[in-house]
Amino acid sequence: MQKLLAAALLCLSGCRNDAVREWTPADHDLPPNAAAAPSRPSQSSASVDAQAEMVELTWQRQCASCHGREGRGDGPQGAQTQAANLTDAAWQARTSDAQMSAAITGGKGRMPRFELPPPLVDGLVKRIRARRAP
Ligand code: HEC
Repeated sequence: MQKLLAAALLCLSGCRNDAVREWTPADHDLPPNAAAAPSRPSQSSASVDAQAEMVELTWQRQCASCHGREGRGDGPQGAQTQAANLTDAAWQARTSDAQMSAAITGGKGRMPRFELPPPLVDGLVKRIRARRAP
């Protein structure tokens, strides 16, 4: 009886680990659902990857339609809205992070405002900076 119980417990923890290992990659394939609620305020080191993923998802879902994948302003609605080319080195040089954040959260011209948590806005600014054209 005790042996059985021990075996059951072993199996339980073993199965649990397997289950976690199995659905973690699958979970990565389901970010569209996660992106529906981009308001997780968590900033612990354990969530750095999740944060980076949220930034990427937010870009793809909310910014790329106008600014394009890399920010060149070549998204499907880029021409129509005259979306800015955010990779432009000269523009980046004369624009501060704070100005970029203000445009994102306050809107500018034909760009709507985006109510996003500050860490996400910071992440988007970093993503734009990382794609500065040489
Ligand atoms: C509906 C199209 C559209 C979407 C969606 C959009 N933008 Fe824009 N964005 C624009 C346009 C148009 C401009 C140029 C605004 C102007 O200068 O009048 C712009 C300008 C900007 C600027 C530069 C502002 C400045 O100081 O000149 C930044 C930064 C920016 N967008 C970031 C983003 C981010 C980040 C997202 C996603 C959260 C986003 N945009 C989504 C259309 C869009």
